[in-house]
Amino acid sequence: MQFRRPSEIPFPEDNPYSKAKTELGRKLFFDPGLSGTGSHACVTCHLPEVAWTDGNARAIGWAGTVLPLRSPSLLNVAWLDRLGWDGKFPDLESVAFTPLLSPANMHQTEPELLAKLQADPDYAAQFRTAFGGDGITRRRIELALANFERTIVSAVAPFDRWIDGDEQAIPETAKRGFVLFTGKANCVACHMSWNFTEGAFYDIGLAGDGEIGRGRAFPNSIKLRHAYKVPTLRDVARRGPYMHDGPLADLDAVIAFYNKGGRERPSRSELIRPLGLTDTERADLRAFLETLTGDRDTRPAAVSDK
Ligand code: HEC
Ligand code: HEC
Repeated sequence: MQFRRPSEIPFPEDNPYSKAKTELGRKLFFDPGLSGTGSHACVTCHLPEVAWTDGNARAIGWAGTVLPLRSPSLLNVAWLDRLGWDGKFPDLESVAFTPLLSPANMHQTEPELLAKLQADPDYAAQFRTAFGGDGITRRRIELALANFERTIVSAVAPFDRWIDGDEQAIPETAKRGFVLFTGKANCVACHMSWNFTEGAFYDIGLAGDGEIGRGRAFPNSIKLRHAYKVPTLRDVARRGPYMHDGPLADLDAVIAFYNKGGRERPSRSELIRPLGLTDTERADLRAFLETLTGDRDTRPAAVSDK
């Protein structure tokens, strides 16, 4: 059944799960000492209590710099092939040094970062436990951070209990909303599977003319112009404002946007069109989206010790 949660986190062969790596990655993720001036940790922009986003329409980097994009949720990143709103990162390991070395973001340099970590006896010991000898390297930092990030998995939500057969788990409005989600509104065409995305890219008719999105990597593609990655909808009610640069403040605004169908242009997906939803149907759709909120905020999931 496509909506059932998987029982295991996928780890790639070249970065298998280990408790020591994940614990080191967790420490690095929460440490503002990684940034050039101590101003930012990874967690500054990816906060567990708001589904690993930060509540800002666009992320705020070093010295108050407003970055062009919103901090995306890190929920269920283990299941994504390409990372970043426009898919610029080929895997999870390749993400970390972009924010770290960006002068507008964490404002760090690689030699300084390595020197800082090497000078700290706790880090030196943790890197040794996780990787054996040969010290602290950029690659090891990337491996540890990605190992930790793969343990960020959405918690069981009322929707999951309903899918498992508990009819009382969600209200009738939400059940009607699910019928709309998979039928008349056809959200499921892009937000499919238990994670409500398979990481594809579409123009939904939202981005401005100058926002090229995935089209930057595919300049000859009409359909990838203004296309952005389909985000997971897990914990979606917990983490507005929405979309790649946060123009929609709440779920009502998102549903109103889809109901109108976005800007008509050659790149817009054929799956996007005016939906003609009534007020009740819009409320039902929202009630369904709210059933995707996990029972607890998502501290990294426990992974069995290996
Ligand atoms: C100033 C805020 C900020 C900080 C600090 C930050 N990020 Fe991000 N993060 C972002 C933004 C904005 C994006 C979107 C970038 C893009 O799409 O090109 C992002 C994207 C990501 C993604 C891709 C998620 C996806 O769904 O595609 C991962 C993984 C990630 N960050 C991990 C990290 C790690 C690890 C660190 C620390 C080394 C970090 N971030 C520090 C703002 C931040
Ligand atoms: C053609 C594919 C497609 C369809 C159909 C679609 N979406 Fe989306 N959805 C996307 C893409 C792509 C984004 C990200 C767009 C961006 O950031 O510019 C998105 C973003 C969202 C977001 C914001 C999530 C976040 O973290 O910012 C929500 C909520 C959402 N969609 C709900 C829905 C609902 C409800 C429907 C049905 C009415 C729907 N979507 C139909 C592709 C689609």
